[in-house]
Amino acid sequence: MNSINIAIDGPAGAGKSTIAKSASRKLGFIYVDTGALYRAVGVNALRRSITPSDAENVEKSLADIKVELKFIDGQQRVYLNGEDVSEEIRTPAASMAASDVSAIPAVRAFLFDLQRDIASKNNCIMDGRDIGTVVLPDAQIKIFLTASAEARAKRRYAELTEKGIEVDYNNVLEEMIQRDYNDSHREIAPLKPAGDSVIIDTTDLSLEQSIDAVLSLISQKLGK
Ligand code: DC
Repeated sequence: MNSINIAIDGPAGAGKSTIAKSASRKLGFIYVDTGALYRAVGVNALRRSITPSDAENVEKSLADIKVELKFIDGQQRVYLNGEDVSEEIRTPAASMAASDVSAIPAVRAFLFDLQRDIASKNNCIMDGRDIGTVVLPDAQIKIFLTASAEARAKRRYAELTEKGIEVDYNNVLEEMIQRDYNDSHREIAPLKPAGDSVIIDTTDLSLEQSIDAVLSLISQKLGK
């Protein structure tokens, strides 16, 4: 099958997942959240008391872990050694651990084939940091979604509070800035727009306006 692949990259909290989920439902595509994979590797490290930035031990831990994505009723679930960890990967500690392990080349190599395989078999919108640059350089559409750090921290704070996870706004903002720095300064596959991506800044856009902007770009590019 010649699948249609749409890559959406950008920093944490730019609205990638909400927008990609909504757009994929409209298009009948699957939505692949690749951050969940790095989060699962991060959670595995935390569970085993491995410091997530300890490249040597994180790399060793990959030898006996299995990370899988399953799509149940169109919803992605992530499994770590057969256990559904889709909720556990959403804590602030898991976010930081994910950012740390994602800078380790062996981790990126470990998750690469899984992402490519899904994209080759399915029409999908895949979101992450390096989808347009590294994972799917031939994606038909590449979007780089961004917003100011403050706007992104406000959204992430609201999202976590809504889920009953207690956090302090200033900590969320600080962690967001730290994670942006880590993600865009690492040596391997750093967060940056692909040369052929369309940049959409959602700082002053509502969620509906952001979804509309992405959908109109997709229909224009797909000629639908
Ligand atoms: O999208 P997210 O916040 O769930 O991602 C968690 C971390 O994983 C993020 O800080 C960077 C990393 N990541 C990555 O390096 N490459 C991807 N394709 C997706 C996420």
